[in-house]
Amino acid sequence: MEIHNNDIERLIREIYDLSGYNFFDYSFKSLARRIEKILALYECSLDNLIERIKKNPLLIDQLVKEITVNTTEFFRDPVVWLEIEQKVLPELANREHIKIWHAGCSYGHEAYSMLILLNEHQLLQKSTIIATDLNADALQVAKKGTFRFHIDMEYMKNFEQVMNCYPNKQVQYTKYFEADASKNILNIRPEFLNIIKFYKHDVVTDNYPPMEEFDLIMCRNLLIYFNMDLQNKVIYSFYKTLKINSFLILGYYEAILGSISNNFYKTGHIYKKVK
Ligand SMILES: C[S@@+](CC[C@H](N)C(=O)[O-])C[C@H]1O[C@@H](n2cnc3c(N)ncnc32)[C@H](O)[C@@H]1O
Repeated sequence: MEIHNNDIERLIREIYDLSGYNFFDYSFKSLARRIEKILALYECSLDNLIERIKKNPLLIDQLVKEITVNTTEFFRDPVVWLEIEQKVLPELANREHIKIWHAGCSYGHEAYSMLILLNEHQLLQKSTIIATDLNADALQVAKKGTFRFHIDMEYMKNFEQVMNCYPNKQVQYTKYFEADASKNILNIRPEFLNIIKFYKHDVVTDNYPPMEEFDLIMCRNLLIYFNMDLQNKVIYSFYKTLKINSFLILGYYEAILGSISNNFYKTGHIYKKVK
């Protein structure tokens, strides 16, 4: 079923009025794709869907999870993680304490990848890792650190690419994961659980942490779903909560545009706040 902008507006207005979730500044193109899929899945029209959520506002949380995209993987885009290892960690290593925020962390793969990298560089002890998302179910999975072997083992080639880039350094994934292929389980080892602090946070509607709080913020593959105004607004909020000479890392296809980009120095995929 083809969906038009005014249909999208009607649905997101209803979601906003009933729950406060604010999708007005998401890209309508990607919203249209998601909503078309949802209508096919629920086998209903847009009017039916609106009727259903009006009658049962509890459905909204489910709908929001289906509107947002949770795709993630360990060490996604290994080239970016190698840049973090080579350009970011050496600078952060000199700081007394390192505070990192993963915004839009989905099931936690990105935050656990950071934990692994910090641990390999003996920086974990002095680091605080905060990871947030608006999807409470994804955060539950992230906290438990229980993943699916048959899907996530696919990404262990990313792990190897990042972890074993030096000839004298061989890190086996079993140092961090317990795997049971027959049960399709890939668990984070208990000693690495409860280190990352997972919280529900909506980058569009919730307050941001105080000024100059973080040494590194990663917000990858989330801004791509926003229109340009909202992207700029969120980037400005990240800018304010970053310390000077600290880092912002976006997704592979995302960038800081407009005047705020003058406050960052970019090298490879890494943005450094310089003023
Ligand atoms: C495609 S995933 C990216 C996960 C991870 N950062 C990565 O790159 O692999 C996007 C995540 O952003 C979350 N998200 C969408 N809108 C959000 C918002 N307004 N505030 C916080 N998280 C949001 C989704 O729930 C989803 O988990």
